[in-house]
Amino acid sequence: MDNFSFYSPTFFEFGKDAENKAGELVKRFGGSKVLIHYGGGSVVRSGLLDRVKKSLEEAGVKYTELGGVKPNPRSGLVYEGIELCKKENVDFVLAVGGGSTIDSSKAIAAGVLYDGDFWDFYSGKRIEKALPVGTILTIAAAGSEGSPDSVITKEEGMFKRGASGDAIRPKFSILNPSLTQTLPAYQTAAGITDIMAHLHERYLTNTKEVEVTDRLIEGLLLTMIHEGPRVIADPDNYEARANIMWAGMMAHNNAVGVGRSQDWNSHNIEHELSALYDCAHGAGLAVTMPAVFKYVYKHDVMRFAKLAVRVWGCQMDFDHPEVTALAGIACLENFLKSIGMPLSFEELGAKEEDIPKLVEALCYGDGRTGSISGFVTLDAEDCAKIYRMMIK
Ligand code: NZQ
Ligand code: ZN
Repeated sequence: MDNFSFYSPTFFEFGKDAENKAGELVKRFGGSKVLIHYGGGSVVRSGLLDRVKKSLEEAGVKYTELGGVKPNPRSGLVYEGIELCKKENVDFVLAVGGGSTIDSSKAIAAGVLYDGDFWDFYSGKRIEKALPVGTILTIAAAGSEGSPDSVITKEEGMFKRGASGDAIRPKFSILNPSLTQTLPAYQTAAGITDIMAHLHERYLTNTKEVEVTDRLIEGLLLTMIHEGPRVIADPDNYEARANIMWAGMMAHNNAVGVGRSQDWNSHNIEHELSALYDCAHGAGLAVTMPAVFKYVYKHDVMRFAKLAVRVWGCQMDFDHPEVTALAGIACLENFLKSIGMPLSFEELGAKEEDIPKLVEALCYGDGRTGSISGFVTLDAEDCAKIYRMMIK
């Protein structure tokens, strides 16, 4: 196991009606004037936004609001949010929505306290200071409710890039599984896929002897394989949604990723797809992950075979471990298909003729120097081959 530091101080309020504690929690974490940030309207239609405002009012907390965050959030609204916060003397950002809203909130929170262009953080500068952020999560997926990360798309060039820093870890996150019951099935499935991707990206490591985190990841994947189909079959199943919601947080606050190198090639390759085609991030990952895994599994066949045996219940073929490894990847594909996810470029709306553009943005865009690295290092030619493997 590698040396590591781990700092994850988010306060979680989990369960039914938890959003009614929003005002009390903002006050506890020092907020007196809040920016309520939200997306395209689901929180207005569900009545959640009104309940949150009422809770803030009851706690004597003032607020201003900014809606309109799009999935795959854009830089334009972040600039608008930063200006609004400065003008209104906002001292706390409250995200009400999914990963896109939370990430936009984190970008605003960091940008308000920074003299330069907030995009510097998405070009490699670490975030050291930010206004405090709280979240009220409405979809189990990105894990941003417990992560120190934010992903934003720069409209100029459509680069989708991430920024990090403990300063943007939420001070609190409110997780009420009932709030996810209004999700369309496709979004629920995309969220399940994203959570499973976060687990795979950590499982694919070059660090030896990491049994504790291996076992935790396997346990969370087994949970997703059990609960995913239950929630697709019965969207009102509170218990299944509760297990998925907590698994989504556990998958990405890095408790299961410490002390080991991680992959993130699937995420980087997918981010170009959601930047160019505006597809759901999880749906893009359903198409990307199997292609990446089939391309890289020979780098450590036994790791893939172990996952296949322990998580998918495949029979170990000691003479031909690559057969076991590939059987595990096939199980993942079948699972993703069974919950309604796309598996090909075509189903995603992606086009073969765009591959050079995707590779250019992935390997050279916004300061990159010709490759991406993770479990293995992939150059532009590798990435082009991987995108081509997604065409069925
Ligand atoms: O905008 P509204 O109207 O709220 O609708 C959203 C949106 O259309 C809808 N939705 C959310 N909760 C709902 C609901 N509809 C009905 N009922 C509800 N309860 O779902 C759609 C998707 O929302 P979004 O916030 O985009 O989903 P998600 O949480 O999957 O976030 C995706 C973004 O997170 C990034 C992705 O790249 C993508 O941009 N990621 C962020 C990470 C992080 N910060 O740590 C890590 C992830 O790997 C990921 O890259
Ligand atoms: Zn993700």
